[in-house]
Amino acid sequence: MLHTLTSPLDMIGRSKGELDTPALVVDLDAMERNIRLMADFLGDGPVKLRPHMKTHKTPQIALMQIRAGAAGVTCQKVSEAEAMVDGGVEDVLIANQIVGPVKIHRLMDLARRARVMVAVDNADNVADLSRAAVATGVTLGVLVEINHGMNRCGTEPGQPTLALARIVADAPGLRFLGLQAYEGHVVMLPDFEARKAAVEQALAIAMGSKALIEADGLPVPVFSGGGTGSYAITGRYPGVTELQAGSYVTMDVGYKRIGMPFECALTVLTTIVSRPRDGVIVGDSGLKVITPEFGMPDIVDLPGAKVIYLSEEHTKIEVSEPLPEVRVGSKIELIPSHGCTTFNLHDWVYMIRNDVIEHVWRVTARGRSQ
Ligand SMILES: Cc1ncc(COP(=O)(O)O)c(C=O)c1O
Repeated sequence: MLHTLTSPLDMIGRSKGELDTPALVVDLDAMERNIRLMADFLGDGPVKLRPHMKTHKTPQIALMQIRAGAAGVTCQKVSEAEAMVDGGVEDVLIANQIVGPVKIHRLMDLARRARVMVAVDNADNVADLSRAAVATGVTLGVLVEINHGMNRCGTEPGQPTLALARIVADAPGLRFLGLQAYEGHVVMLPDFEARKAAVEQALAIAMGSKALIEADGLPVPVFSGGGTGSYAITGRYPGVTELQAGSYVTMDVGYKRIGMPFECALTVLTTIVSRPRDGVIVGDSGLKVITPEFGMPDIVDLPGAKVIYLSEEHTKIEVSEPLPEVRVGSKIELIPSHGCTTFNLHDWVYMIRNDVIEHVWRVTARGRSQ
């Protein structure tokens, strides 16, 4: 039966095939299996999951991860952390530098409402955070971000990291809690043994600095890092206390290509809008709903068809077989090559079980880049 859509929420209880497109959909069973697989892997061991919410930007999914044992979430931006706390998350790490009076003010507001940790790599920034924390009357948890090989942010290992840890520990209103390090330069190495060697090399560097800080008399209760590609390595590495993997929850083609054991639960439902000539079909999902930086999306269950190009509103698909069942008006599903940036393009996510829409959730942190 045709529906006249007034709100995405009206779709609850209807079948996936009734959704207008493009639509972001998640297979709940597959996502729950991913959450369980990660929770079982970490078990009651010393490493707690602190999943990066930049993947899903949706508080309800964060709360499912927390109910399965996660300690809280990792965010990249203050505005993302606000969306999580507004949605019921009580413990957030902003694994990033928060700079400038506006953001620092918002960070302090947040610290009044939730347990907040933030990363630093600069003494001036530490002084700003300290002044604001004292003025607000909060104590802010701080991790020093160490550069253990990614060469993005972070203090250099050894003395520079120890020196900043000391500055944080001595700063009123701040509590030095430990180190943060994300091995983003190696999490996508295709060969597992090469990835393992590279991740362990990075972690060994960071643990050297942890030992140096402890030898200087400062406890380092937190070491937070790691991603989906390194979960099995960082999640078992002595001294690590938190794993920040995010993509595992809904996965994407990028991580599937390197053999991660999680299931692709995220797709963009797409309508075929044209079969203009032999060998080509065209869908209605383009760059404004699915991102290409890790390559073209895969197509679910359509052997002989391959996405070769995305323009703003079109999916150009090459077919090597006639595929008569794929008509103008048929719907197909695309698996994004990069889930995190694709989620960020959507206001709503449709949570599907056995083809029925069980929930419709607002992606409340989408576009939250400040
Ligand atoms: C600071 C930080 N932690 C963790 C992650 C892990 O993400 P993923 O699970 O997508 O590898 C990222 C990804 O960019 C990150 O920037």
